[in-house]
Amino acid sequence: MTGIPVLRTSDNVRTLVDSWRGAGMRVGFVPTMGALHQGHLSLVSAALEQTDRVIVSIFVNPSQFGPEEDLDSYPRTFTRDLMKLEEAGAHGVFFPSETEIYPDGFSTSVHVSGLTENLCGKYRPGHFNGVATVCAVLFGIVHPDVAVFGRKDAQQLAVIRRMVKDLRLDVDILAADIFREPDGLAMSSRNSYLSPDERKQAAVIFGGLSKAVEMVSKGERHTEPICIAVREFISRAALAEIQYLEIVDINTMKPVDMLTTPGLLAIAVYFGKTRLIDNVILKP
Ligand code: PAJ
Repeated sequence: MTGIPVLRTSDNVRTLVDSWRGAGMRVGFVPTMGALHQGHLSLVSAALEQTDRVIVSIFVNPSQFGPEEDLDSYPRTFTRDLMKLEEAGAHGVFFPSETEIYPDGFSTSVHVSGLTENLCGKYRPGHFNGVATVCAVLFGIVHPDVAVFGRKDAQQLAVIRRMVKDLRLDVDILAADIFREPDGLAMSSRNSYLSPDERKQAAVIFGGLSKAVEMVSKGERHTEPICIAVREFISRAALAEIQYLEIVDINTMKPVDMLTTPGLLAIAVYFGKTRLIDNVILKP
């Protein structure tokens, strides 16, 4: 058993958050789907640096999974998650039921247009509506001063920033850097799906991203040769199947031909049935 408060209802969250606010404290929030790893915990640390109290939500949000996706098999490790969060110094865990988030009659969907059409949005229709909707609901329940998101999901970060701006939501969005395994693979709850061979080969993604950074540092500004070189590099791993590989504008997620300003190299790669995403910001 851990001592960290687990809140099952929105009312419980509001009571706790209101008591903190009443004492003049700033509240940070880290939304997650659980199966926590050091990447998630680095977001908690970032929140703790900026605020006095930090709430983490654990909710495997059905509305952001497609019908053929891994909602049922998504790893659920609640007891371990709690221990990790207590050790990381979080002050509360919101662990709602599905009906707490989506009660009978729930009818709203938040659609952020434009920047959801490319990259993951193209291959996961409806995914970002699910993400934006659940984050809007969670922000409404928690009312955080600051919410932290990882750059690992760069398109998600851009969508959330756009939504917060457009809906004038009163929350500061803080971005945390990608936390990686020693061989460079970005930490992800889905890495646990990889077979030993797939896991070994998956390091090629970071190799490809590093290749791009190296080309830019040597003066390459055209995005096409960079994409070709990265594709070639990643394709050396026999088990890798690239879904997309593009250099886009960081805010609009639209493809760019020339790196006049920083661009985002974003990649989705299948290893067997497991889909991994990663990215790097290329600064000219
Ligand atoms: P989840 O995949 O659990 O990720 C929760 C947060 O952790 C996201 O902001 C994600 O970008 C961040 N994160 C994951 N791996 C990371 C890594 N290796 N380094 C840094 N940050 C990392 O993203 C979601 O959940 C959901 O879409 C959610 C926002 C909770 C809405 O349901």
